[in-house]
Amino acid sequence: MAQAKIGIIGGSGLYKMDALKDVEEVHVETPFGSPSDALILGTLSGTQVAFLARHGRNHTLLPSELPFRANIYAMKQLGVEYLISASAVGSLKEEAKPLDMVVPDQFIDRTKNRVSTFFGEGIVAHIAFGDPICGNLAGVLGDAIASLNLPDVNLHRGGTYVCMEGPAFSTKAESHLYRSWGATVIGMTNLPEAKLAKEAEIAYATLALVTDYDCWHSDHDSVTVEMVIANLQRNAVNAQKVIQETVRRVSENPPSSDAHSALKYAILTNLEKVP
Ligand code: ADE
Repeated sequence: MAQAKIGIIGGSGLYKMDALKDVEEVHVETPFGSPSDALILGTLSGTQVAFLARHGRNHTLLPSELPFRANIYAMKQLGVEYLISASAVGSLKEEAKPLDMVVPDQFIDRTKNRVSTFFGEGIVAHIAFGDPICGNLAGVLGDAIASLNLPDVNLHRGGTYVCMEGPAFSTKAESHLYRSWGATVIGMTNLPEAKLAKEAEIAYATLALVTDYDCWHSDHDSVTVEMVIANLQRNAVNAQKVIQETVRRVSENPPSSDAHSALKYAILTNLEKVP
């Protein structure tokens, strides 16, 4: 099977990458079923990458329906060591404006119905998750964004991503609560991905693309799908430039990552004694 060291997961509005060359569709099967769609292997600035449309290329999967384990397992099977996850998010802070890019460093889990571990059924492990995002990969991603000087796009390094269950957007009371917690952005998908990537010893970073002010802002309408898609389409070209530049930098100078040894002290089960 073809291999790629760098994986890309594209969220709402980013279903394919136009700059990918020598493209090959790979249908990967995993012990956790099929991924959201075929993985697209191709080269980006001369580097082999694997791209996956998180919700499927025709956007047929709700956040709660995503086969997170299959998606991450498939990336691992292809040899992925670095995963860049592009996602639409709502902003919980005045300064993070629609079309801005945020590179979060923390998560708050507000999901209710997600399987977000490969362990269990006889194998017990607890990964460290104090730093859920790979700081070095996030640094490269931030540097890539900064280097491009994209018009009308402000970069926010660091920040907390609230991961909610959905599919309905938040109530105003919830949105104000998350703001009172100091959170920066809200989305529906990245936390299970980050957990599973860590368990799979893959360095993970989120490119959060702000599409709206959720529903807390008195000067802006509450978030609608129309708003999310309109802003993401404007942002999709920029997002692809950022991903391309990040891939170039990672392949030229692969960052070290704690994620690459996340299981070293995590497994409690005596695997030598398990038949
Ligand atoms: N994705 C984009 N905007 C969002 C919002 N306001 N809440 C949750 N997910 C989102």
